[in-house]
Amino acid sequence: MPVRPIKQIIQGVKTTDGAGVNLTRIIGGPELDLLDPFLLLDEFGSNSPDDYIAGFPPHPHRGFETITYMLNGKWQHKDSAGNEGLLGDGSVQWMTAGRGIVHSEMPIQTDGLARGFQLWLNLPKTKKMIKPAYADIPSEDIPVVNVEGGSVKIISGEFNGVSGPGKPHTGMLYYDIYLTSNAELEMDIDDGWNAFIYIYEGSVVVDQTISAGKLVVFNQRGKLKLNAGDEGVQCLVVAGEPLNEPVARGGPFVMNTRGEVLQAFSDYQEGKFTS
Ligand code: FE2
Repeated sequence: MPVRPIKQIIQGVKTTDGAGVNLTRIIGGPELDLLDPFLLLDEFGSNSPDDYIAGFPPHPHRGFETITYMLNGKWQHKDSAGNEGLLGDGSVQWMTAGRGIVHSEMPIQTDGLARGFQLWLNLPKTKKMIKPAYADIPSEDIPVVNVEGGSVKIISGEFNGVSGPGKPHTGMLYYDIYLTSNAELEMDIDDGWNAFIYIYEGSVVVDQTISAGKLVVFNQRGKLKLNAGDEGVQCLVVAGEPLNEPVARGGPFVMNTRGEVLQAFSDYQEGKFTS
């Protein structure tokens, strides 16, 4: 099977969200508005509480899933469906907003490093109004497969016959990969799926050296081949089946038409996001 060539390399942009959390927006910004089915990818990472202490007070979502992967830090989640959860080092929170949820994501640490990622996975038209759901996935429930020169942590999807605990509503995989200096790894990804890597430590060599802070988008066919740079690499590998449906965005609501987004705003204002 041929190796997927690079389609695009993106540098995230610094921004703030929530009540003033400093973060880097990688997907969902001006350079890459959408990588179907992925609507947004943010990285947050700071040793300074000023960058994150304000957190994300209660806010609504409708029409997609949010997947938060915490590398370091302790945050608390609460939502209008009555779910409460703690995010600790290496854990994942998988929230399906469906027809509507109001949640808060707040740090319960007052100092130290908070670092992680939030990915928004779109829901297909037929599932946008499903019942909201929430899963707290502790680090110890996420399998890690050792490979030559590194390891693959499987948040969702299957690698070497091992399945991750994340349960997306459409075809999707999410790995966190560690490779030592100059190690090489190949993986199969379904043809037609969109695939990207986000390098958060070290570098990879794919035609050229690509360093931390870069998102690499690949073409839709072939296997994915990674070569770690001299200092090794830590990167997210994410791929998903495109929905090929219209996307209408309105802040925290992502639907198929403008009318459905306006309906989401009015439903929220009328207090219909309670369960
Ligand atoms: Fe949120």
